[in-house]
Amino acid sequence: MRLAVRVADLRKDYVLSGETVHALRGVSFDVPEGDYISIMGPSGSGKSTLLNVLGCLDRPSAGRYVLSEVDVSQMSDDELAEIRSTRIGFIFQSYNLLPALTVVENIEVPLYYSRRLNAETKARCLQLAEMVGLTPRLNHRPTQLSGGQQQRVAIARSLINDPQFILADEPTGNLDTATSHEILDLLENLNRQGRTIIMVTHEPDVAARTKRSIILKDGQVVVDKRN
Ligand SMILES: Nc1ncnc2c1ncn2[C@@H]1O[C@H](COP(=O)(O)OP(=O)(O)O)[C@@H](O)[C@H]1O
Ligand SMILES: [Mg+2]
Repeated sequence: MRLAVRVADLRKDYVLSGETVHALRGVSFDVPEGDYISIMGPSGSGKSTLLNVLGCLDRPSAGRYVLSEVDVSQMSDDELAEIRSTRIGFIFQSYNLLPALTVVENIEVPLYYSRRLNAETKARCLQLAEMVGLTPRLNHRPTQLSGGQQQRVAIARSLINDPQFILADEPTGNLDTATSHEILDLLENLNRQGRTIIMVTHEPDVAARTKRSIILKDGQVVVDKRN
């Protein structure tokens, strides 16, 4: 089976006013294409640092990160930006929608960065809005939507460049239980389509819905198990 991700002895140090913080201390795991992983661990255990490296938002201090069989560990900022905008979908706890834009305009945003806004991709925005159940609200602005609806917009936006790899940082952290489960249903459908998903969560019942759980402690993997 092809690997979506391989991280090997990943390390990340931050130097803060002369003190070195070892945020990741040798993290290794393989992710087959189509896997669905939750990452848990106490505050400060390195979850966000790991997600930032996996999302090509930051480079590791040492170790290897291979994404879709390409070593991205030492790529330049421009190369990483290209990978981010074309290969990876991001979903955040706080949705990160642009308040002045409508639903359909928010879904289009990544197309500006990848310079792909055309009739075909605009049609795809409408399809994605339909898929997440937002067709009646295409011209609403984020403040006119519930949290669950805003997260649906963010999910549609994350899919616009058709990434095979989706990273989600506490995607249900601001949602009530029923709405969380609707969002998890959507993620499960994306995973069934073959997309690889890695999600940070604090909630054990959210993690239980993924295929595999990784637990970090002090920058190291202490649990890696199939659910
Ligand atoms: N930009 C930064 N500069 C300095 N230290 C950082 C930075 N980001 C994270 N850290 C430190 O790295 C460790 C891991 O942080 P983080 O990855 O945010 O953990 P988590 O997301 O699990 O709470 C913590 O000790 C944190 O204080
Ligand atoms: Mg964090």
